[in-house]
Amino acid sequence: MKNIAIFASGNGSNFEAIIEAKLECNIKLLVCDNSKAYALTRAKNHNIDTFVFDPKKFNSKQEYEQKIIEKMNEYKIDIIVLAGYMRIFSKSFVEKYENRIINIHPSKLPKYPGLNAIGQAVEAGEVEIGVSVHYVDGGVDTGEIIASEVISIKDCSCIEEIESLVHSVEHKLYPRVLKEKIL
Ligand code: GRF
Repeated sequence: MKNIAIFASGNGSNFEAIIEAKLECNIKLLVCDNSKAYALTRAKNHNIDTFVFDPKKFNSKQEYEQKIIEKMNEYKIDIIVLAGYMRIFSKSFVEKYENRIINIHPSKLPKYPGLNAIGQAVEAGEVEIGVSVHYVDGGVDTGEIIASEVISIKDCSCIEEIESLVHSVEHKLYPRVLKEKIL
């Protein structure tokens, strides 16, 4: 069975959906760059080890990424699963884990990469948005797309409704893609 580390910066609902899916893998570690993230409470509730770091306490990205690499080695991590992790890795980090870092993004990539993807799509007047699971390369949400799903938002009346619809799709899609294509 593969050892996986999940990286999250905030709420961690995708992290929890992956736990609840009881996939054939060992969820060894949650890596988190925000000591206030609710994802940490979820990890505690499920007895999953955490590595929390404060990027501001390091002089460079290379320095904190070195600490992350040490943790990946300590826990013998095979696959890195990003679930709302709000940082971009350096080129050398991505190269080290080539094809072993997966991300979920709330748009039908290549449309609307980067921050506030749902807001960007709504602003552009889209009636169909999406969710994509992709490999992470050196860019922002530019890596090879593994799977995606289209979501119709024409009946949604507010952004909160759209967000919750997107989350419900993500919570099914991410565990399924991990199971069928990655693990
Ligand atoms: C998700 O919408 C995901 O697509 C994006 O960040 C959000 C994380 O939500 N990358 P959560 O922390 O898993 O609830």
